[in-house]
Amino acid sequence: MGRNALVTGASSGIGLALSERLASDGYHVVLCARRAESLREVHRRITSKGGSASVEVMDVADVERSVRRIREIDRSLPGGLDLIIANAGVGERKGHVSYAWEAIADACHVNFTGAAATLTAVLPEMTSRGHGHIVGISSLASFGPLPKSAAYCAAKAGLSMLLECLRLDVMDSGVKVTSVHVGFVKTPMTEQSRHPMPQIMSAEYAADYIVKELAKGPATIDFPQPLAAVTWAAGRLPRGVRDLVQRGLKRVR
Ligand SMILES: NC(=O)c1ccc[n+]([C@@H]2O[C@H](COP(=O)([O-])OP(=O)(O)OC[C@H]3O[C@@H](n4cnc5c(N)ncnc54)[C@H](OP(=O)(O)O)[C@@H]3O)[C@@H](O)[C@H]2O)c1
Repeated sequence: MGRNALVTGASSGIGLALSERLASDGYHVVLCARRAESLREVHRRITSKGGSASVEVMDVADVERSVRRIREIDRSLPGGLDLIIANAGVGERKGHVSYAWEAIADACHVNFTGAAATLTAVLPEMTSRGHGHIVGISSLASFGPLPKSAAYCAAKAGLSMLLECLRLDVMDSGVKVTSVHVGFVKTPMTEQSRHPMPQIMSAEYAADYIVKELAKGPATIDFPQPLAAVTWAAGRLPRGVRDLVQRGLKRVR
């Protein structure tokens, strides 16, 4: 029986690269996102190389509909879904004060609520089957506060904590749970960013690294080093020291 993966945010960036990488490893990949034409293009790229994929137009912020659809997909595939990657994500919406609700709403709805729904939609079914893997694409931004990124940092920190807790709940069931803390990746999301992005990598490199590490079933994947270690340590500095550093960062963000 083939293996089945579902990837949200498969129309662009890291999700697109992950989908192509998984398809080349023999997975049937369910490509989820809102832009149908972009998904169809990813589908064409995968099938032209002999891979298997299907297109699912889905807005993960529409949680009831997404959960219903993921359950239907799980039932329709032979053996069900083996791997679910909640990758769909957005930054803060521009054109508003960074701490206004209008700026932060999308990141809350998509990066946390949408991801939580995606990850848990068929988790009970996976535990009944005694296997499966759920993966959240979080961020090094979850390791500590950053200026002008309240919703992004909070949603990603919430996602990482959700995954840590879910891992405890299902740890003896045969289902694996992984939180991926990624640094800077060249994608449409970072295209407009003007602040320094140390150790920025291509989406293909990031996807290749993630898929190789996922095979080991780790609780977390934190990369690239040393940025991950430095960010983790910075998030644990005494608040007074951290505030000094953040004031500097606020000027360049
Ligand atoms: N790039 C980085 O430096 C970086 C660093 C750390 C973590 N990450 C995380 O990596 C993930 C992928 O980001 P990326 O850099 O690859 O960005 P991207 O190229 O902008 O891709 C974002 C993807 O999410 C999808 N998406 C957005 N809102 C959605 C919704 N409501 N429903 C379904 N799909 C939705 C988009 O598709 P549609 O527009 O077609 O819906 C797109 O496929 C995100 O969770 C991001 O937070 C990125």
